[in-house]
Amino acid sequence: MFDLSGQVALITGSSRGIGLAAAQALGRQGATVIINGRDPAVLEQAREGLASQGIHALALPFDITDIDQAVQAVDEVSKTVEKIDILFSNAGVQHREKLLTFPLPDFERVVFANLTAQWALGRHIARGMDARGYGRIIFTGSITALLGRREITAYTAAKAAMHGLVRQWAAELAESGITVNAIAPGYIKTELTTKLWNDPEFTAWLENRVPLKKWGDPDDIAAALVFLAARESRFVTGQVLVVDGGMSSSM
Ligand SMILES: NC(=O)c1ccc[n+]([C@@H]2O[C@H](COP(=O)([O-])OP(=O)(O)OC[C@H]3O[C@@H](n4cnc5c(N)ncnc54)[C@H](OP(=O)(O)O)[C@@H]3O)[C@@H](O)[C@H]2O)c1
Repeated sequence: MFDLSGQVALITGSSRGIGLAAAQALGRQGATVIINGRDPAVLEQAREGLASQGIHALALPFDITDIDQAVQAVDEVSKTVEKIDILFSNAGVQHREKLLTFPLPDFERVVFANLTAQWALGRHIARGMDARGYGRIIFTGSITALLGRREITAYTAAKAAMHGLVRQWAAELAESGITVNAIAPGYIKTELTTKLWNDPEFTAWLENRVPLKKWGDPDDIAAALVFLAARESRFVTGQVLVVDGGMSSSM
């Protein structure tokens, strides 16, 4: 089960963190993985790391918020790989600031990156999947779309909208053979959450609050992704799979 041989996966935001772990996991299942980030040098390092594990990986640097550049990059790589079967739309950004002083330009920037840009690139890739009658689209949501938390107003708004988008796309793309789901990670130790895991008080609170008593690891998300990316998940669509050590299911 979950053999991805012969399939091609594009993972946005995969030069590190959850995306890189996802690329590794999909690659180990046999997929050709196209990894992405904004920094070509960092991306090339990540590609070499994957290649050293026997994974067929291509580096595709682009900024997801530059829609024209992103679409052009995907069209260019499609000439080589011919198709994209799996999209893990994962690149995301955070901005932490109190609501009452949160600058509007930062709100718009974070919502654009975490929602609008994903909609635009995802739709472009869905057109190719529609033409071939098959696709797996997985977005990265967040438990912050389910549980309120202070100082991340733009991020929360975008991720909550993303959860809604998943259900709408699933309804519309089912007839094209495309399933659409999201993974909502809890607290995962990556560069995005550096500020939090460097704070012993926060970690003590988290370890007490999460039933499984720990920070999540990028591989925890990658394992869930493999299931949603595989042919075998064919009857699962429009869902948000929460991977959070039980945090959102307990008080
Ligand atoms: N970590 C958590 O606890 C957590 C919890 C819930 C949800 N999430 C979500 O999980 C996803 C991955 O987060 P992470 O924790 O792995 O973050 P991360 O370690 O900061 O990695 C983010 C990745 O996205 C890339 N990226 C950022 N902006 C980009 C852009 N505009 N265009 C292309 N690539 C871009 C980064 O590379 P460059 O900077 O080089 O471009 C990097 O490869 C995000 O959607 C995040 O919101 C994370």
